[in-house]
Amino acid sequence: MQIPRLHPDTIEEVKHRADIVDVVSEYVVLRKRGKDFVGLCPFHDEKSPSFTVSQTKQMYYCFGCLAGGNSIKFLMELGKRSFAEVVLDLARRYQVPVKTLEPEQRQELQRQLSLREQLYEVMASAANFYQHALRQSQGQRALGYLRSDRQLNEATIQQFGLGYAPAGWETLHRYLVEDKHYPVQLVEKAGLIKPRKEGAGYYDVFRDRLMIPIRDIQGRVIAFGGRTLTDEQPKYLNSPETELFNKGKTLFALDQAKTGISQLDQAVVVEGYFDAIALHAAGINNAVASLGTALSLDQVRLILRYSESKQLVLNFDADKAGTNAAERAIGEIADLAYKGEVQLKILNIPDGKDADEYLHTHTSEDYQQLLANAPLWLNWQIQQIIKDRDLKQAPDFQQVTQQFVKLLKNIVNSDTRNYYVSYCAEILSLGDTRLIPLRVENLLTQITPSTTYSKPIPIRSNGRSQSPVTSTQSPTDRHLLDYAEALLLRIYLHCPEHRQAIIDELEARNLQFSLSHHRFLWLQILESTDKQIDLISRLQDVYLELGEELSVISHLFHLDEKTKKEIMRTPQAVQAAIACMERVLREKRYRHFLELWQQTDPEVEPEKWQAYYQAFYAEKIKLQELDRQRQFSLTELL
Ligand code: UTP
Ligand code: MN
Repeated sequence: MQIPRLHPDTIEEVKHRADIVDVVSEYVVLRKRGKDFVGLCPFHDEKSPSFTVSQTKQMYYCFGCLAGGNSIKFLMELGKRSFAEVVLDLARRYQVPVKTLEPEQRQELQRQLSLREQLYEVMASAANFYQHALRQSQGQRALGYLRSDRQLNEATIQQFGLGYAPAGWETLHRYLVEDKHYPVQLVEKAGLIKPRKEGAGYYDVFRDRLMIPIRDIQGRVIAFGGRTLTDEQPKYLNSPETELFNKGKTLFALDQAKTGISQLDQAVVVEGYFDAIALHAAGINNAVASLGTALSLDQVRLILRYSESKQLVLNFDADKAGTNAAERAIGEIADLAYKGEVQLKILNIPDGKDADEYLHTHTSEDYQQLLANAPLWLNWQIQQIIKDRDLKQAPDFQQVTQQFVKLLKNIVNSDTRNYYVSYCAEILSLGDTRLIPLRVENLLTQITPSTTYSKPIPIRSNGRSQSPVTSTQSPTDRHLLDYAEALLLRIYLHCPEHRQAIIDELEARNLQFSLSHHRFLWLQILESTDKQIDLISRLQDVYLELGEELSVISHLFHLDEKTKKEIMRTPQAVQAAIACMERVLREKRYRHFLELWQQTDPEVEPEKWQAYYQAFYAEKIKLQELDRQRQFSLTELL
């Protein structure tokens, strides 16, 4: 199916006619309160209404779950429909004539679209070929492997479209190019063949491998994973990144699992293709696999779309699951988990088995039981910290306390943090309840300085860093930066009179937004130069059209009492936010050069050593200067 590219006029007209109150009222009972309407939020479970609809702004916003947007966004979210679908639907309902983009633009878009369409076709054709080959005599060994080694039945083999890539050098190439007449460049773009290094011609990427199609959410084949049937390395060969396949944004089996995830309101993430397949075969149909890498934020967001209460169980190899390995696998979700935006649980299967191996000797109910008992990630970390420790011994006690403090500092939500403070205090009290208050107090004093904004944030003014030198940001830096950048963006969005000053200031100091979602928003802002239109509403459309995640920044579009007060204090707020951004940047550069300097041997590379020294020293001087200039503290604005 072709997706029409709608003319902006059509979109504007639809928004103009489709009144937000009208649209929302179909799904939510709204009551008038002040100049707005309120009701129970359809996007999360709640008993008292925090969902507001503003007729003047033509936007909705939920103070509970932070969902927000215009009428188009509302219908997209509610029905999990695309931007174009919703706009077309509204256009029909409100009798808006539909215009699409100009011919040239349309042609170019059409060309891009059709390249993708053709790639889908090639991939589907290849998948058929592999499936067919599995049933030929050449595929016998692979089929036998699936049936006996993996204990898979016919239905599962079909369900996942498993296949076999024959051993020849150009069997697929011949099939697709000679029999099916696909252009050879197209097949190459699909990542299925490669040009020979010597001489002319192409060869198949996958040879003598068991083929596992990787599909997008709609179930279209976008890549393959190929497992060797011998000892050949690598064990799994995966398609390269292509126009269709972006590894970091794909999850294996999500197409099969999305319904299960919504129904069970929980997703299980495993490491391997065959773990996911085995789970589905056992009737656990909310399982996806991460393609062997750390979970990216994009992947998590993709999964969480389907789980209302944002529950994710990570089932990874217990062998490798030292705390470090766990942290690596958890990757970018850590932040979300500490903020409470995802309920992350950890499942380690006993005896270091993976899900596939476990299910060979256990029933599906056994696995469900493991799932039900999986600890929350924070509890799991606490378990790891106290594992093999004897708290009666002073050194162990001390180390455990230190690790608790480090962990507790990461928890952003203060209720959650308080809960875990008492939890840890209880552990440290070794059953003597009289000791608990003392332990609580002790933990609290150790974690408080850098976790609240109610006190000025300590900045290492003499440039001496207490932690080992690394180029990563400390959590405090990140919070501060997040806060400062958000403040600046909020002022920009809501106070047009300060816009030019912000642009000038950032340019003068050569500063950029560091957090990617802020940087992206800023780019969109700079591109929306048309002063006539409402910037916030325009930005929402851009996000929706580009299919970008709106929820990470949508809170910037709305002001509550607290943020209203904050942005009133411009221009000091602008200055403070910018100084803060600059400080974080300088600090990062300082640590970076310091690290390089420390790693350079002055005997071997004296010039480099000298240059790094000068660079980090210059940053240090700038930092001191900035601290001197900082008569204001960001936190005083709060
Ligand atoms: P593992 O090698 O950890 O184990 O790969 P596995 O899935 O249990 O392998 P089997 O059971 O022996 O088949 C985990 C996942 O990591 C990716 C694949 O997605 C695999 O399923 N992987 C692994 C690769 O992409 N390439 C490799 O060479 C190995
Ligand atoms: Mn395995």
